[in-house]
Amino acid sequence: RRQEPGVLVLAGQQQEAQRVLDEFREACATPLEKLEKVVDSMVLEMEAGLAAEDGCLLKMLPSFVENLPKGTERGIYYALDLGGTNFRVLRAVFGGPGEGCMQESEIFTIPHDLMVGESDDLFDFIASKLRDFVLRETENKSPPPGRKRELGFTFSFPVMQTSVASGTLIHWSKGFKVAGTVGRDVVEVLREAISRQNLDMEVAALVNDTVGTLAGGRYINGDVMIAVILGTGTNACYVERAEAVPKWKGPPPKSGIHVINTEWGNFGSPTLPTTFADDDLDRESVNPSEHIFEKMMSGMYLGDLVRRVMLRLAKDAGYFGDSIPEKLTKKLALTTPDISKMHADDSPTLEVVGEILKKKLDLDPTRLEERRVVYSIIDIIARRGARLAAAAIVAVLRKIGRDGKSGNGTSKTVIAMDGGLYEHYTKFRDYLNEAFVDLLGEEAAKNVVIELSKDGSGIGAALLAACHSKYVRQFLT
Ligand code: GLC
Repeated sequence: RRQEPGVLVLAGQQQEAQRVLDEFREACATPLEKLEKVVDSMVLEMEAGLAAEDGCLLKMLPSFVENLPKGTERGIYYALDLGGTNFRVLRAVFGGPGEGCMQESEIFTIPHDLMVGESDDLFDFIASKLRDFVLRETENKSPPPGRKRELGFTFSFPVMQTSVASGTLIHWSKGFKVAGTVGRDVVEVLREAISRQNLDMEVAALVNDTVGTLAGGRYINGDVMIAVILGTGTNACYVERAEAVPKWKGPPPKSGIHVINTEWGNFGSPTLPTTFADDDLDRESVNPSEHIFEKMMSGMYLGDLVRRVMLRLAKDAGYFGDSIPEKLTKKLALTTPDISKMHADDSPTLEVVGEILKKKLDLDPTRLEERRVVYSIIDIIARRGARLAAAAIVAVLRKIGRDGKSGNGTSKTVIAMDGGLYEHYTKFRDYLNEAFVDLLGEEAAKNVVIELSKDGSGIGAALLAACHSKYVRQFLT
């Protein structure tokens, strides 16, 4: 148990801590007028990204998806979903109109050294797990003669698509830094690894997780126009009119639409309420200056932002005891699931907050004020993140005239949402929903539904493999 400082020292520390906290709260503030500016600025960036090939913050990447699922798909398809520390392999059996689908899947954890190692090592690991999964199948699941198994590859990183089944990795994100993949066609890289495993399989579609989620959502509900991921990272895709994409050089899509991957994680704007904690986190990340928006609000970073503010309090105000515990200085020592649990602590004495701080950071916050200060930091950071996420969704709605303020205000719009942050972090979700209604207004918000689509990206990729299979005659959307 630590030595308690004298009463006067404590009062001084508390005052200084309060000062730092107030300043931080002020810097993170997102009143409605500020959020409106974020929305406006994001809409402008979206338009710029749709017009210019590169050089824009929002890459607005056409996905080359020509056909979205209709619920009539039939057959056995596979998916490989890679986008975080885990990847999932999946087999889906689509039964045709009204018959729904059955799926089996398996999740594997990627060892950390492969996330920062060499490309072939990572892809060999993935392909070997895929092979084990596929070959455990019974005989009647083998493809008919003359046909190969087909796979939808969900690859949740910024990719410049060159067709529905090829695309170049622009850069890694979310803690991945694998040498030898950037600039290459990731489907080719996967194909080579699959063939090193002697597995007979074709990659029929390469999709971002947002696009997979959109497809998975469409399978069940034709009103899905936008898909959002709020998980380790954050991003959105949406259905855009073909003529609204001036940078598109190919033949006009027969479907009349483009599914655009916004890569909104890379949004940045002077309208964003950034702080010293954001700057420090960015500087020490594996991708400095990139994905600034994502770093302010996604699961990979929220916990670490909280830790950084606590560290500032410990350094500047001598808060949390006379020495700074080693763990408080360690990147990612506090995770978003940790802060989500602390944030859910409604007890008057904040016992859970105390326990987690002890367990994760070796702190011993015996005084209730200390635990309250930590709770406030969490609340400020989560609230800011959630409100920014709401603003980003409203920006996409505004871009397609579905925000109730412009044009198409009365038709129903469904947003397919996936990601652990939205699913498991209740206070974050509540703050998001609240800001969403504030921004849209009660009436317009009634026409927009956010639907949780759990793990929709894997099944969506399998569906897109079905929709773009070269063995099946396609009817355009
Ligand atoms: C990152 C990736 C993006 C992905 C998102 C959510 O922002 O760059 O492609 O969709 O994370 O997983």
